[in-house]
Amino acid sequence: MQILVLLAAAASFLATAAAANPYANFSRSCTAVGLFHNFFLGATCCHPGDDGNDSQSENELDLTMCIGLNQVSGHMQWEVYGKFSNYCTNCTVFAPAGRAEHQLTCSCKPLVGSRGAVLSTLNLDEGIANDWGTLKCAGGMASSPRGGRDY
Ligand SMILES: *[C@@H]1O[C@H](CO)[C@@H](O)[C@H](O)[C@H]1NC(C)=O
Ligand SMILES: *[C@@H]1O[C@H](CO)[C@@H](O)[C@H](O)[C@H]1NC(C)=O
Ligand SMILES: *[C@@H]1O[C@H](CO)[C@@H](O)[C@H](O)[C@H]1NC(C)=O
Repeated sequence: MQILVLLAAAASFLATAAAANPYANFSRSCTAVGLFHNFFLGATCCHPGDDGNDSQSENELDLTMCIGLNQVSGHMQWEVYGKFSNYCTNCTVFAPAGRAEHQLTCSCKPLVGSRGAVLSTLNLDEGIANDWGTLKCAGGMASSPRGGRDY
């Protein structure tokens, strides 16, 4: 029950964050965005510092906590503890030319059926926000303790 309340709060936070928080759209407020160990999103994200100037934090967000696989379509989807790593390989993160948002593309194989791998793409700005310097995903997972460090 408590978890459900938390999830609802996190979902409504993500829904309103884009409008309320100028840093919410992580593609617009983070640099050095990249994927490492196949399933971790790394980024250096801006937030207001104590002195009023912009400050920056390094982040590494475990995407397996935010993304799962639709076992019918074979496409990735936003899902708490989705563990898409069990089904997906060859992941890349890139920002298409002329567009600011970052996209994640992977090749995934559903458990169901004998079909081969399916290529799918998620717009990371739809499920990931820069919460005052810390990357968070839909459902409220935040970046690891190593993230959020000021420097
Ligand atoms: C904040 O930024 C301004 C302009 O770059 C700079 O002059 C000022 O020293 C900075 N403040 C602190 C506390 O670093
Ligand atoms: C992953 O990429 C390698 C090298 O390009 C390719 O040989 C392999 O078939 C790909 N795997 C899937 C599941 O797409
Ligand atoms: C994030 O910002 C980029 C660049 O301004 C914009 O193209 C994109 O639509 C935004 N995404 C969301 C989910 O707000």
